[in-house]
Amino acid sequence: MSAGDAVSNHLKDITLKIWRQSGPDDSGRFESYRIEEISDEASFLEMLDILNEQLIAEGKDAVVFDHDCREGICGTCSLMIDGQAHGPQRGTATCQLHMRKFKSGDEIVVEPWRAAAFPIIKDLMVDRAAFDRIVEAGGFITAPTGGAPDANLIPIAKPIADAAMDAAECIGCGACVAACPNGAANLFTAAKVSHLNLLPQGQAERYSRVEAMVETMEQYFGSCTNHGECEAACPKSISIDVIAVMNADYLKSKFKNRKSLSRI
Ligand code: SF4
Ligand code: FES
Repeated sequence: MSAGDAVSNHLKDITLKIWRQSGPDDSGRFESYRIEEISDEASFLEMLDILNEQLIAEGKDAVVFDHDCREGICGTCSLMIDGQAHGPQRGTATCQLHMRKFKSGDEIVVEPWRAAAFPIIKDLMVDRAAFDRIVEAGGFITAPTGGAPDANLIPIAKPIADAAMDAAECIGCGACVAACPNGAANLFTAAKVSHLNLLPQGQAERYSRVEAMVETMEQYFGSCTNHGECEAACPKSISIDVIAVMNADYLKSKFKNRKSLSRI
């Protein structure tokens, strides 16, 4: 074997304590399952796939969990693992977590996001439509269609472009809400607001956007009290600084929007 060859180890005797709930009206319960042996190179979701194959072979119901891209892009793999949103590895989504983060004999507790705004659909899958309502309220720009403009037609200062791109990394997973003791969605909403409000293309609707998005957020989610759990849980390491950007714009919107309206 050459020095560069990867060595795969196997974990033995893993116990999974998984939340099972047949639907939104079921009270739900934990059920325990055993995985006899698994490669430490398996991703956490592959481990759940293997468990489901086992359950189906035994004539039992597979565990329902959300997933799509499996590469940290879509934000659907929303699992609370041992009480941590997306598990013990910082700055990554559940689909990027591998079994090498665990050891033989571990008991791993797997739950869905726990937040009033995210009702459980089944087992580990939740309904995050409340996020869609926030984006519908203002997560867009209105611009005339036509030919694609040259990339350098609108100069944007590098620090502004970088800050907008950092905010645009939000994948809408909901970990920030699940980790927040108040079930607040301020990190998500602020990421969406900041991404557009920082850029020249977002200026036309800057203040109507922030007002509409914040007020829609408040219909579904709790209030932010600066715990900072959201930033720690975020798989994209989005800084809570974006919340300050959103709050400043929201305050200004209360004057600017009224002033614009008075001119109509
Ligand atoms: S801010 Fe982070 S934790 Fe919250 S939805 Fe976006 S990516 Fe997920
Ligand atoms: S499955 Fe898409 S981010 Fe995890």
